[in-house]
Amino acid sequence: MVKALEGVKILDFTHVQSGPTCTQLLAWFGADVIKVERPGSGDITRGQLIDVPGADSLYFTMLNHNKRSITLDTKNPQGKRVLEEMVKTCDVMVENFAPGVLDRMGFTWERIQELNPRMIVASIKGFGPGPYEDCKVYENVAQCTGGSASTTGFRDGLPLVTGAQIGDSGTGLHLALGIVTALYQRTHTGRGQKVTCAMQDGVLNLCRVKLRDQQRLDHGPLEEYSQFGEGIPFGDAVPRAGNDSGGGQPGRILKCKGWETDPNAYIYFITQAPVWEAICDVIGEPGWKTDPLFAKPKARLPRLNQIFERIEHWTMSKTKFEAMEILNQYDIPCGPILSMKELAEDESLRATGTIVEVDHPVRGKYLSVGNPIKLSDSPTEVVRSPLLGEHTEEVLTQVLKFDPKAIDEIKASGALGDTGRLAAE
Ligand code: COA
Repeated sequence: MVKALEGVKILDFTHVQSGPTCTQLLAWFGADVIKVERPGSGDITRGQLIDVPGADSLYFTMLNHNKRSITLDTKNPQGKRVLEEMVKTCDVMVENFAPGVLDRMGFTWERIQELNPRMIVASIKGFGPGPYEDCKVYENVAQCTGGSASTTGFRDGLPLVTGAQIGDSGTGLHLALGIVTALYQRTHTGRGQKVTCAMQDGVLNLCRVKLRDQQRLDHGPLEEYSQFGEGIPFGDAVPRAGNDSGGGQPGRILKCKGWETDPNAYIYFITQAPVWEAICDVIGEPGWKTDPLFAKPKARLPRLNQIFERIEHWTMSKTKFEAMEILNQYDIPCGPILSMKELAEDESLRATGTIVEVDHPVRGKYLSVGNPIKLSDSPTEVVRSPLLGEHTEEVLTQVLKFDPKAIDEIKASGALGDTGRLAAE
């Protein structure tokens, strides 16, 4: 079966997390992703958080499936020659270098256009144009500057970063959408274009509801925030809302049976208005269905603590899975707090390929998150990440069509690294 992006060639000049998540998705959709790595070391994550000595780290393997790897010193003139051929041959270049790096390498937008006017150049930077545009940025910097940290955590505690990598993987996702959109536009215009996504912007996009609340603050307190019921005045910026739900339906994380010893024995419980009567029946408070203090959503807002305490009394008598099963019979929205261990062992996630077991020649079997986006006509087969420079020879000959003499010259220059030079000697 032909894959959705079959025939699209990607010059993958990405590293660490944000860029690689983007190109991995494109590879899963069938693009030929050729990762250009620095000879000797490669993507820095290959050697970060090592768990199996001598093997590429899980950090690297889990972000670089289905790609080919070529080692190339792009500051070496022969390396530049190879990169130029790649620019001419590929449809998209994806990069997430620090600002200015690509220009310093000699690959400005103008130069790339000269080489290939159809090329789409997709970049992730920490910030867009403005006071911080030259800064190097990592995940938590983006979470902090994009509005996530100031709105995460409890009102009386520190700002918090989240475990979900919304700055890196989130921006990678945004960029992937920009790339396929530009590829589509190119089918009409025949021209490439620049696609850029700043991590701050990506995080802010995911914090859209908090900018909504910032403006609502001008018109009075945010009544669905627990703080309102607790009688604590609001300041001039959106506060941290603990585990309050982001929508208009009050929700909390509540203890379940076993919480004393199991750090994940909790359930998220939403007191959604349309199922309020069912909630009252389930927790054993049928009187609340008609009691004017509880019957209507607005009346409940000032007494959410009392309500959730009562609901928690009920959830503590059930395991999180029992509670999930019972509540779902009444369409009461809830979600058990699943640990990474539980997710790794989840059979349904394995069955859909969202959790996959991959075999690697050096590290052996490991688990990864597969493609969360399912296309019925373009199923994803997760293929292990490449070893450093595994496909250098193959790309030079088959993709870039260098003849043996040219390959010898390139190898002799050291542009492919020591292995290449030795092979030529
Ligand atoms: N051959 C030769 N040189 C290479 C090369 C190759 N194959 N690949 C990279 N380099 C060089 C670059 O040319 C650059 O050299 P220069 O500074 O002399 O111009 C150098 O490697 C370092 O690149 P840089 O991107 O600055 O890496 P870094 O490790 O210093 O910074 C980041 C890492 C992630 C902070 C930075 O790349 C960045 O801010 N990226 C944008 C935001 C981003 O994606 N952040 C999230 C990462 S998960």
